[in-house]
Amino acid sequence: MSSLSVSETAGIAQASADARVSIRVEDVSVTYRTSLEKKPTMKTTLLRLGRRERIVREIEALKHVNLEVRQGEVLGILGANGAGKSTLVRTMAGILPPTIGRVEVRGRVSTLLALGVGFNRELSGRENVTLGGLAAGLSRAQLRDKYDEIVEFAELEEFMDMPMNTYSSGMYGRLAFSVAVNMDPDILLIDEALSVGDAKFRKKSFKKMQELCAQDRTVVLVSHALGSIEELCDRAVWMHKGELQMEGEPDDVVHAYTKFLDVGEDALTMEDL
Ligand SMILES: Nc1ncnc2c1ncn2[C@@H]1O[C@H](COP(=O)(O)OP(=O)(O)OP(=O)(O)O)[C@@H](O)[C@H]1O
Ligand SMILES: [Mg+2]
Repeated sequence: MSSLSVSETAGIAQASADARVSIRVEDVSVTYRTSLEKKPTMKTTLLRLGRRERIVREIEALKHVNLEVRQGEVLGILGANGAGKSTLVRTMAGILPPTIGRVEVRGRVSTLLALGVGFNRELSGRENVTLGGLAAGLSRAQLRDKYDEIVEFAELEEFMDMPMNTYSSGMYGRLAFSVAVNMDPDILLIDEALSVGDAKFRKKSFKKMQELCAQDRTVVLVSHALGSIEELCDRAVWMHKGELQMEGEPDDVVHAYTKFLDVGEDALTMEDL
């Protein structure tokens, strides 16, 4: 399920010394703390205390990650399920504060994340696009122009006045993608959000991504679609168990990663975008 948020982070921008760095991740660690069960009973709590067991489980999702994304660069992030990719992108989006370390972001960010703050499903598509646009700092006039572009790209004209809880997941994803890419952000963060539509829409969104990546825009793209990473990105990082395992040319990183997974070239042809 895709969702969307757009935020203004220009305030943090001054902190960055190097004008050409869009995102700086400095020694970032994220530890999630979760309780082992939903409702521990008095008995289990006492038993645990007796055994000196910890009731809270800590998951180190990111471990001392250092990374810079330069202005205009298209960075691909790949890695196995649970490697920490979404966590890293969520810290870049400012949705998740790092447990240790700091993240600096320079520019207006638009995100399309697998999990996070999304559309209000009770509201219509039109209302959600309006709210998203205003939250992104567009004026009413700018929004009127953008609105048509967004709806046209999503091809959802007939559905814009229906509440979004009547949308199929593909329709929801199309509108989220269309809003995110049409906001003219300086920085676009995309996590696994390109595979929502049907084949025709995927082709169209891939083309749109190619256009965006060719402009002077910073893009961070998390994807299991390794062919897309090779095709769209200038640089790739491979995350493994919360750490950066490798960083380099997309082809080299994808090659090393598929070799590590032992999946062979099939993984490249079976994927979709
Ligand atoms: N909200 C959360 N609470 C507790 N643990 C979490 C939470 N979100 C993620 N984790 C844990 O953090 C680790 C990294 O998760 P993350 O979602 O960043 O992985 P990912 O690389 O995006 O994986 P995927 O390819 O499946 O999307 C995993 O071990 C996961 O269990
Ligand atoms: Mg993820």
